[in-house]
Amino acid sequence: MTNWTDFQNFDELWQGLLTEHQKRKGMLKTPTVTTSHQHKPQARTMVLREFLSTPYPTLVFFTDIRSPKVAQIKSNPQITIHSYSPRTRIQIQFYTTGHITRKHPRFQQWRSQGLQRKEDYATVASPSQPTDQLADVTYNLDLAGDNFAVMLCQIQSVEILALGQPHQRCLWNYQNQAWTKQWLIP
Ligand SMILES: Cc1cc2nc3c(=O)[nH]c(=O)nc-3n(C[C@H](O)[C@H](O)[C@H](O)COP(=O)(O)O)c2cc1C
Repeated sequence: MTNWTDFQNFDELWQGLLTEHQKRKGMLKTPTVTTSHQHKPQARTMVLREFLSTPYPTLVFFTDIRSPKVAQIKSNPQITIHSYSPRTRIQIQFYTTGHITRKHPRFQQWRSQGLQRKEDYATVASPSQPTDQLADVTYNLDLAGDNFAVMLCQIQSVEILALGQPHQRCLWNYQNQAWTKQWLIP
C-alpha cells in the first residue's frame, strides 16, 4: 500500500498520484471539485481525466462550457479538489488555479474522447436551467462539439492526511520554482 506521507520529493508524489489514478477504482477517479460563487463554496463530483506534468503539474477535467462552474472559474479561478479513500484512510486536497480552454494543443484529442458520450454536452437548454418536466429535456447531439470544453487546474499545493496511529499530515507547496514538503500538525 502507498505510504502517501513518506515521499521525499515531488516527483515521487507525482508518480504515486499517477499510479493511483490508473487504478480502476482508485480514489482519484471522481474527486469533489469546489469553486466559489458569490463567496459560497460550490462542490460537485467530476471525472478526473488526466494529469499533465508540463509545463506545470495540472489536473484535466471535461465540462460543458455553458455549465455554471465555467462562469464561476472565470470570476474566481481558485479551485480546490478533494478526495478521501475510506479503504486506505487517505485524504488528498489539491489547491489549484483553474482555467477553461478550447485552444490547448491536446484539445482535439480530448474532445474526441469526451464526445464518446455526446449527450453529456448536448442538452438543448443549458445545464442547470430549471425545467418543468423531465420530458422537456431535449438533446441536439450536433451541438456537443461546440459545447465541449476542458478545465485545466494548475496545482499550487497538495495536502495529504494519512489517518493512523499516529495520523500524519503534510503539505507540498510550490514556491521559488521548487516543491517543498512541510509537515503539519494533524
Ligand atoms: C460520478 C459523476 C461524475 C461526473 N463527472 C462530471 C464531469 O466530468 N464533468 C462535469 O462537468 N460534470 C460531471 N458531473 C456532474 C457534476 O457533478 C455537476 O452536476 C454538473 O457538472 C453541473 O455542475 P455545475 O452546475 O456546478 O456547473 C459528474 C457527476 C457525477 C455524479
